[in-house]
Amino acid sequence: MPDPRRVIIGITGASGTLLGIRLLELLRDVPDVETHLVMSPAAVRTMLIETDYTADAVNAMADVTHSFKDIGASIASGSFKSEGMIIAPCSVKTLGAIAGCLTDDLISRAADVCLKERRRVVLMFRETPLHAGHIRVMKEATEAGAIVMPAVVGLYYQPKSVLEMVDHLAGRALDLIGIDAGTVKRWQGQPGKADEGDTR
Ligand SMILES: Cc1cc2nc3c(=O)[nH]c(=O)nc-3n(C[C@H](O)[C@H](O)[C@H](O)COP(=O)(O)O)c2cc1C
Repeated sequence: MPDPRRVIIGITGASGTLLGIRLLELLRDVPDVETHLVMSPAAVRTMLIETDYTADAVNAMADVTHSFKDIGASIASGSFKSEGMIIAPCSVKTLGAIAGCLTDDLISRAADVCLKERRRVVLMFRETPLHAGHIRVMKEATEAGAIVMPAVVGLYYQPKSVLEMVDHLAGRALDLIGIDAGTVKRWQGQPGKADEGDTR
């Protein structure tokens, strides 16, 4: 039996905790994927404010859950094989920790380990507006190998609900680690409309 594809999901206390929750739900329907979840205490607090989910319900969606402070967990080691890690949403605090190699909790440690092993780390950063420090740490995280994917909604596919927007974003993040959960409305171009919008 081949090893399952392991995906590490971190949920932090930025707004948009539904993104991380939907990632877990979508991955349950993808064959041969094993999810590993770490939530920060701030994630749980934010989740209780902005969703109807409890921490227990979200933990139950993952194949394996890890404690935020357990810096000795399996995913804290480079010898643990994975497809990579998605932090959704990713707070300023955690983005800054990853950019600065500050790894005193399991979310920043697991991300740092994935980066040193040259595995994918997708940071669904959520803050607005941005000051120079935010922009600086986005650049530093990118230079370390992470993909900074701000949780910015596209409207070109005419989403009809918040869930549709969240699932599209979650699907685009999964694209970056090579998993297709079937939720991305893929642009097919506009045959015959190449000149539309040309005002010359
Ligand atoms: C309701 C709520 C919404 C928040 N939204 C954001 C946000 O969008 N971005 C952010 O960086 N922090 C946000 N925060 C603050 C973070 O939760 C806080 O900085 C926390 O220390 C992050 O820690 P963590 O990265 O370990 O989860 C929010 C907090 C609350 C309670």
